[in-house]
Amino acid sequence: MRASTAGPVITLDGPAGAGKTSTAKEVARRLGLRHLDSGALYRALTYALLENGVPEERWSDLTLQELRALDVSQVARGGAFEVRVGGRLVDEELRSSAVTGRVSMLARVPAVRECLLELQRAAGAQGGLVADGRDMGSVVFPEADVKVFLVADLEERARRRVLQDGAADRDPGTVAAEAQAIARRDEQDSRREVSPLRKPEGAVEIDTTGLAFEDQVEAIVDLVRRLTG
Ligand code: CDP
Repeated sequence: MRASTAGPVITLDGPAGAGKTSTAKEVARRLGLRHLDSGALYRALTYALLENGVPEERWSDLTLQELRALDVSQVARGGAFEVRVGGRLVDEELRSSAVTGRVSMLARVPAVRECLLELQRAAGAQGGLVADGRDMGSVVFPEADVKVFLVADLEERARRRVLQDGAADRDPGTVAAEAQAIARRDEQDSRREVSPLRKPEGAVEIDTTGLAFEDQVEAIVDLVRRLTG
């Protein structure tokens, strides 16, 4: 893909807790591009279904029309997209354990992926985007200018998540429980039939285990400059 005047499209995929979202946000800021957090859209649909009291056993049978009626949308604002459900801004509520525990189950439903594909593609239509998720480089933006696959050891990812969630210490029991939850989500994301989590063709793999946040941001910014400069 030839970088448009708005700038290149950069994709960051990888398993849960590898630091995709925070890294993508900072890479976008440094390069003057916009950040798309695709996971937030899957979380928003999950949140909307919970809010509407739609029983979980119905989720896999939802039609495209029913999913669209939940009215998940996003609006470009500054360097990011604000996610809305029924016109109302949602943010913190997307990271609740109720949503996190159910989002992968919903993300494997083909109609769900179809419903969100349009929104994501529209976000990148003009270029100038850093998109993070599971299938950004493989399905949503296969023609991206730069593709990164971010990985890290499971335990390291769990430790980061526990700290990110505000726990004061790295209690081994809490970290082990988080590792289990992350591993379960990774397995669901990797084994599904539609758009499974995998390294996209042409992606550069970066292992962030033991890398400081600044260093991983720097590594990606350098890569983008090298490949698109
Ligand atoms: O931040 P974290 O990696 O934990 O999750 P996220 O990016 O917010 O994504 C939440 C969930 O949405 C993932 O576990 C996937 O099930 C789903 N997802 C997906 O299927 N495809 C994407 N492009 C992004 C997220």
